[in-house]
Amino acid sequence: MSIDVAAYQPGTPVDDELATVAYAAVARWADQRPITAELVASRLRTHADAPATLLATGRAHDGRLVGAAALRWPAAPGATGRLWGPAVLPESRRRGLGARLLAALDARLADTAAAQVTSAEVPVGRCAAHRLFHAAGWTLAPASVLLKAQPLPPPNTPPQPSRVRPAQPDQAGDLAGPLGRLYGATHPTQPPLVAAATWQRWTADSRYRPDCLLVAPSGDGGELDGAALVYPLAHTDPAEPPEALLADVLVAPNAGDPQRLRDGLIAAALSAGRRHGAAVARALVPAAPNPTLDALRRAGLQPVTTLATYAAPQRRPAPAASDRSAW
Ligand SMILES: CC(C)(COP(=O)(O)OP(=O)(O)OC[C@H]1O[C@@H](n2cnc3c(N)ncnc32)[C@H](O)[C@@H]1OP(=O)(O)O)[C@@H](O)C(=O)NCCC(=O)NCCS
Repeated sequence: MSIDVAAYQPGTPVDDELATVAYAAVARWADQRPITAELVASRLRTHADAPATLLATGRAHDGRLVGAAALRWPAAPGATGRLWGPAVLPESRRRGLGARLLAALDARLADTAAAQVTSAEVPVGRCAAHRLFHAAGWTLAPASVLLKAQPLPPPNTPPQPSRVRPAQPDQAGDLAGPLGRLYGATHPTQPPLVAAATWQRWTADSRYRPDCLLVAPSGDGGELDGAALVYPLAHTDPAEPPEALLADVLVAPNAGDPQRLRDGLIAAALSAGRRHGAAVARALVPAAPNPTLDALRRAGLQPVTTLATYAAPQRRPAPAASDRSAW
């Protein structure tokens, strides 16, 4: 079977095929969730000036997609690129396809100057994927934990007067600056360009709804003390309950009473998910102890699995022509 590598184009029938392959990859695992064509497009589409995602596909003789992997380039210099997959349909596994898909994208990485790339999160028990990454020389990166509330519990605290409120559609553009600065303050190791593009990145996802972006103004010239983003996923798969993904919770390092603010943001985000029909809430956060993990547990989400992430082997930048005689 030959592997085709091409620039990914969102909004084509390939999105449906990729959703089928991706769903087969997670079915019956702790990270099982609905995967729609729109979700795939949201994950693979690139923003701003980043080059198009590279998509590697393997097809059976009848043209059916049986395996795929994708490489989303870093959004800015110094940012991290993301690998999607590889994912191979169960009946086509153990024939070398997963390794070849990974190698096809790895080869493109080798052409570039040492870009940082991490894999998608892999549940601890999914041994085939772990062995695949180890065999290809990828190394373990910090782990995450998947938390879930199923069913989504009713609000467990009476509503309190709170400064947390949903973003208004007409002033959403005004949030871009404050949200970028909040993201920069809470993720100081991220490149400034990534922080500055937070609003564009969050709102470019097809699941974005303005009332699902919760903000806590600091009362100080339009700046924000906190923000939370929840993505409800509309889908028609009867096997999967409607869900909402709590995608991010940001609390400024200098915000007053940060625990109460974090709890308020999460409660408001879960309420927004409920309003959009979600019966399940999911969140993915670093596994190392952190206040968001504690707050999610207080809100009724329970850890369901630890997930490993792998980092692509570091490449040495290609030597300048004048250095080559030393080889
Ligand atoms: C992980 C996955 C892509 C592997 O695809 P595949 O086509 O079966 O993989 P390959 O046949 O190319 O195997 C490559 C290597 O992976 C490892 N591997 C793959 N399947 C394995 C299994 N069931 N048990 C142990 N090792 C396995 C082996 O090291 C293998 O090399 P080897 O055959 O020389 O021993 C496939 O199992 C899958 O789609 N899993 C679900 C999705 C997933 O978890 N993707 C990972 C990123 S999210």
